Amino acid sequence: MSSPAADRRETPEGVAYFIDKKPDPADFLADVLAGLSKSSKSVPPKFFYDETGSHLFNKICETPEYYVTRTEVALLETYGAEISRLAGPSRAVIEYGCGSSLKINALLNCLTDPAEYLAIDISKKHLLQTAEDIAGTHPTIRVGAVCADFSRDLDLPRTVGEGGRRLAFFPGSTIGNQAPEEAEQFLKIVRKTVGHDGSLLIGVDLEKDSKILNAAYNDKDGHTASFNLNLLHRIRSELLGKLNMSQFRHDAFFNERLHRVEMHLVSLCDQEISVGGQTFHFANQETIHTENSYKYTVDRFTDLAMSAGFRITETWIDPDCLFSIHYLEVYGG
Ligand SMILES: C[S@@+](CC[C@H](N)C(=O)[O-])C[C@H]1O[C@@H](n2cnc3c(N)ncnc32)[C@H](O)[C@@H]1O
Repeated sequence: MSSPAADRRETPEGVAYFIDKKPDPADFLADVLAGLSKSSKSVPPKFFYDETGSHLFNKICETPEYYVTRTEVALLETYGAEISRLAGPSRAVIEYGCGSSLKINALLNCLTDPAEYLAIDISKKHLLQTAEDIAGTHPTIRVGAVCADFSRDLDLPRTVGEGGRRLAFFPGSTIGNQAPEEAEQFLKIVRKTVGHDGSLLIGVDLEKDSKILNAAYNDKDGHTASFNLNLLHRIRSELLGKLNMSQFRHDAFFNERLHRVEMHLVSLCDQEISVGGQTFHFANQETIHTENSYKYTVDRFTDLAMSAGFRITETWIDPDCLFSIHYLEVYGG
C-alpha cells in the first residue's frame, strides 16, 4: 500500500484519504467453513463487526457492567499530560481497531500538536464515521482511514509519519482477543510499522475477580448476547446460511486456568445447519467458540511486550486495579 489507491467516492468530508482493503466475503465464508469443520467449532471474533456488530459493541461499552471503556477513558484523561510528555509533539497516530471516536478524541486532546491520525478498522461504515468525526473536531490534523484486517502485515501509506514519529494506539484491550502467541506476532507487526523511533500506547485488561469479569460479559440488558448472536445473523444474511437463531444462546465465562473470558454460542438442541453448501451437525449443548478475551497481570504483559521487541516506559492503572494502559517504546530504538 505504499502508493495508496484511495477511494475518493467514499472518502468522507475533511478526510484526506480512505483505502478500502476490507476482507472479501469469500474470506468470511472460508473462515466460517474452516472453523465449523474443527472438532471444537470456532469462528474468529473479527467477524462480529459489521455495522450492527459495531453498534452493539458501543451499547456494551455503555453498560454498567462493562467497566473497560469508562476506566480506560478516565486513565487517558487523568494521565494525559504524562502521555503527552512521553510522546512529544507532532506525532502521527495510527489506531488499530478504532471503533468509535471516544478514546482517540481523549488521546488527541492531550497530545501536543498531533500531525496525523490514521484509523484502521475492519468495520467500514463505523470506521468512516470515526474518521469523519475526528476530521471535524480536529481540523488541523491530517486524517486518513484504512478498512482492513489489522492482523495481516499492513503496508501503510509511506507518507504516514513523514512529518513526525509514529505512535500506534491500540485501546480497548483488543489485544486480549488474540492468544498470547498471536498477540506477540501482532505486536511485532506494530513494531515494524512504527519503526525504530516509534512507540505504542496500549490498553490491557487486568485479571481480576471472576464475578466482575462474568458480569461484564453477561450484561443484564443482553447487549453482549445480541453482539455474540450477530455472528449467526451475518452467516445467515451474508453467506445465506440455513440456521435457526433461536436454537442458539449466548454464553460467556471466565476460564481462570487459561486467564481468559470465553464467549460461545451454545446449540440448544441436536441440529444441523448448512453454510456454503456444507452441512454441520451440532449435538445438544455443543458450542461455537466465538471469542477469547485474555486478561493480563502487569508482569505477564511486560513479558509479552518484551518478547515482541518493546520495552514498557510507563504503566498507568486505575485505583480499583481494573485496567491498565502502557506506553511502549521499540527496544533498542
Ligand atoms: C473490542 S473493539 C474495541 C473498539 C475500540 N478500540 C475501543 O477501545 O472501544 C475491537 C475493534 O477492533 C475492530 N477489529 C476487530 N478485529 C479486527 C481486525 N482483525 N482487523 C481490523 N479491525 C478489527 C472492530 O471492528 C472493533 O472496532
